[in-house]
Amino acid sequence: MAASCVLYTGQKMPLIGLGIWKSEPSQLKATVKYTFSVGYCHIDCAAIYGSEPEIGEALKEDVGPGKAVPWEELFDVEPALQKTLADLQLEYLDLYLMHWPYAFEQGDNPFPKNADGTICCDSTHYKEPWKTLKGPVQVLGLSNFNSWQIDNVLSVTSVHPAVLQVECYSYLTQNELIANCQACGLEVTAYSPLGSSDYSDEPVLLEEAVVLALAKKYGQSPAQILLKWQVQWKNIKVFDFTFSLEEMKQLNALNKNWQYIVPMLMVDGKRFPRDAGHPLYPFNDPY
Ligand SMILES: NC(=O)c1ccc[n+]([C@@H]2O[C@H](COP(=O)([O-])OP(=O)(O)OC[C@H]3O[C@@H](n4cnc5c(N)ncnc54)[C@H](OP(=O)(O)O)[C@@H]3O)[C@@H](O)[C@H]2O)c1
Repeated sequence: MAASCVLYTGQKMPLIGLGIWKSEPSQLKATVKYTFSVGYCHIDCAAIYGSEPEIGEALKEDVGPGKAVPWEELFDVEPALQKTLADLQLEYLDLYLMHWPYAFEQGDNPFPKNADGTICCDSTHYKEPWKTLKGPVQVLGLSNFNSWQIDNVLSVTSVHPAVLQVECYSYLTQNELIANCQACGLEVTAYSPLGSSDYSDEPVLLEEAVVLALAKKYGQSPAQILLKWQVQWKNIKVFDFTFSLEEMKQLNALNKNWQYIVPMLMVDGKRFPRDAGHPLYPFNDPY
C-alpha cells in the first residue's frame, strides 16, 4: 500500500489520493483503473460530482478477491449514502465525509438556486444528520468545517469524526485549523493541492518562482513539488528527493490565506461569496 497515516480508529489512510471533481466522465473509468494499477487506492468522490456510477464500474472490475486491488487495500467510510453505495457498486465505504456544514434543498437538482443566483438551502443543522448517521460506513469525517464547527460536532456527539478535508496548499497553509484538528485527533486531507483556479485573474500556484526553481533543481514537475510539500512535514518518503529546511520555509512563505474554492457569484462585474450570508457558512471565521 502507498504511504499512509493511521486514523484514531486504527484504519490506515493513504496519503495521496485521486480527486475526481472536474474529471471528464468518459475518461473516468480508465483513470480510476490506471490509478489502481500504479498502486494508489484512495479515491475522493462526491455524489454532487455526478460521476459515482463511472467509478463504480472501475471498482467492480478491479476491486475484490483475486483482482488488482484486494478489498482490504481499498480506501474510500441514509438515502444519499445508499445511492452512493449503489452507484459505486460497493457494500460499504471506508470513509464517508459530510461535504459542507450546510445543506442544499433536497431534490433532483444538485444546485437549486434562487432568482439572485444564491443557493436554496435546507434548514437542517449539520448536528442532526451527524448524530443519526449510521450504516455500512467504517469511518466518518467532515469537509469544509471550520474549527468552531468541528468543536461543536465533537461536543454534541459520541461519533467522533476521524478526518477533516479542507482546501490546503502553499497559499493556504491552514496552520491554525490543522493544529486544532491534531489536538482533537482528526487527520487532515488537503483538497485542491495544486491550486485549482477557475478565474484568469487569480494567482497561479503552479507558476510561482520558488515552485519552478525547485522543480528545475530536483528534476520534477511543479505538481510534484507541491505534493511533496504537502507530505514532507509528515516525514514520509513519497518522491526520492527531500526539501531542505530553507526550501520548506520558502514554500511556506507563499502562504497568504488565499482560497480558490469559495463558491462565488458575479454581480455587476464583481465576484462575491455566494453563501456568505448563511449562518453555517464556514469561511467567515479566520479558521
Ligand atoms: N471537499 C470539497 O469541498 C472539495 C472541493 C474541491 C476539491 N475537492 C477534491 O480535491 C480534488 C482536487 O481538487 P481540484 O481539482 O480543485 O484542484 P487541484 O488538483 O489542486 O488542481 C487541479 C488543476 O491542476 C491541474 N493539474 C492537474 N495535474 C497536473 C499536473 N500533473 N501538472 C500540472 N497541472 C496539473 C489541472 O489542470 P487541467 O485540468 O488543465 O489538467 C487543474 O487545473 C477534487 O477532484 C476533489 O476530489 C474537494
